[in-house]
Amino acid sequence: MTAQPIKKTLPPQNEFMTDVINGLTSDQKTLPCKYFYDEAGSKIYDKICELEEYYPTRTEIAIVRKYVKEITAHFNPDSYLIEYGSGSSIKTRTLLDKLKDLDGYSPIDISGEHLKSISEDLHLRYPDLAIYPIEADYTQDFDLPEPLLVNNNRIVYYPGSSLGNFTQEEAIEILTEIRELAGPNGKLLIGIDLVKPIPILEAAYNDKEGVTAEFNLNLLTRINKELDGDFDLAKFKHRAIFNQDLQRIEMHLISLTDQVVNIGDHSISFKKSESIHTENSHKYSLNSFGYIAKKAGWENQCSWTDDQSWFSVQLLN
Ligand code: AVI
Repeated sequence: MTAQPIKKTLPPQNEFMTDVINGLTSDQKTLPCKYFYDEAGSKIYDKICELEEYYPTRTEIAIVRKYVKEITAHFNPDSYLIEYGSGSSIKTRTLLDKLKDLDGYSPIDISGEHLKSISEDLHLRYPDLAIYPIEADYTQDFDLPEPLLVNNNRIVYYPGSSLGNFTQEEAIEILTEIRELAGPNGKLLIGIDLVKPIPILEAAYNDKEGVTAEFNLNLLTRINKELDGDFDLAKFKHRAIFNQDLQRIEMHLISLTDQVVNIGDHSISFKKSESIHTENSHKYSLNSFGYIAKKAGWENQCSWTDDQSWFSVQLLN
């Protein structure tokens, strides 16, 4: 089986600039978290996943490893696996090792370069697997490869609790779109991070080594590089706090001084201590996630958690 070319559904060239300027001219300055994931950001995110404080990745991997037989027993033979936000596809390997008769696998990722190198690695590891990578922002419309369209046993895999990076309304919208993409026989296997004591949550996003800070600040580096910006990274600091009312970790970049930053032809003023809100990471209970899944037309078939109930892997149909 030869490696298939990447199917691209690219956003318009100037969308990054428009999103950045709109975000930085709002009352509460914001930047969309999807822009974290250029090649450098995707690599820093991989480092986050290995941090001692960042429990989600290792907990989710342990759950999938422990229950992989049970999980895959729910899948029909000759299914097609579609992965949302595949990143380095590390968690997927546990499933791929077990699912020998897959009709095809489509990792979907926003970072084309990263997707290319990961797809090549996967091709070496699973030479018999038909891989059809899709470079896209999965919150927008994207084209599907033909073999996926003709398969009626579609399994969508959405690991990492990435759904938590969206508001409840956006999450329902994404789950509704996945319901449509999966089709009548479709299933969704999704990783959802659960609410837990605040010190554990805040430590996960304020690691001692400063890797999460590097990840957050890389957004400014990317703006400097791609949009002709002149952010001085030494004049911003990373902050992550749990917002109890909204049950989410919020990441911010705090301006350490009054300053003006130029981005292309635009000038943006910052007051000392003003923040740019860069990411939300919502935490759910089994009930609160069940509520939004149901709104999107999904039924829970099975849930698996770790001993401390920190993370859940849920199968929906
Ligand atoms: C990708 N996403 C689920 C991560 C999270 O935990 O919300 C992104 C992240 N941000 C900081 N650390 C990890």
